[in-house]
Amino acid sequence: MNLIDWPVEKANRILAPRPTVIITTVNKQDEINAAPFSFVMPVSIDPPIIALASAPTHHTTKNIEETKEFVINLTPAKIMDEMWITSKKLPYGENELEKAGLTSLSSVKVSAPRIKESMAHLECDLLRMQEVGDHSLILGEVVHSTIEENIMKDELLDVSQVKPLMHLGGKSFVVGDHLRKVE
Ligand SMILES: Cc1cc2nc3c(=O)[nH]c(=O)nc-3n(C[C@H](O)[C@H](O)[C@H](O)COP(=O)(O)O)c2cc1C
Repeated sequence: MNLIDWPVEKANRILAPRPTVIITTVNKQDEINAAPFSFVMPVSIDPPIIALASAPTHHTTKNIEETKEFVINLTPAKIMDEMWITSKKLPYGENELEKAGLTSLSSVKVSAPRIKESMAHLECDLLRMQEVGDHSLILGEVVHSTIEENIMKDELLDVSQVKPLMHLGGKSFVVGDHLRKVE
């Protein structure tokens, strides 16, 4: 085996693929924003806390600072093209969900909407935000969660139905659509 050096600033390309989500937020004027993220992970089970990293210049970061709320929407492979459209930078206040043809649903506990086509949603309240390197580390507590009926089997996501999209880097994704179990 021949080991070669890999640039440390591309470490995220090794920690891959990562679940891709679309984060929805609103600003104080209640204008909707949506953008995909893959620097996202659970950091506490009880209470349920999720960490995500968002560049300080992103509208998502600005809106979370303003309203202290956001929604994490799953990205099933069937909405890959729509997810990609939400990654385009629109002028502040313009709604990427409309541009992508995705359907917004009012959330139960927060002002940011859920995405109907996402099949599963985590409504979050901001706990803490801190600049870390070139991103803002955002910690959010999940205050409500909804899933499409029947997408959980024995409390595990039924990946054969959802086909969650995972980000490898750039325009490349992996579809997590089959299960392997340890004997
Ligand atoms: C699959 C995918 C994953 C991404 N993950 C992140 C991420 O974790 N953090 C981040 O700051 N930007 C990430 N981006 C980039 C933002 O989605 C993109 O810059 C977007 O325009 C930000 O939108 P906003 O300014 O409306 O928040 C990702 C883009 C794609 C396509």
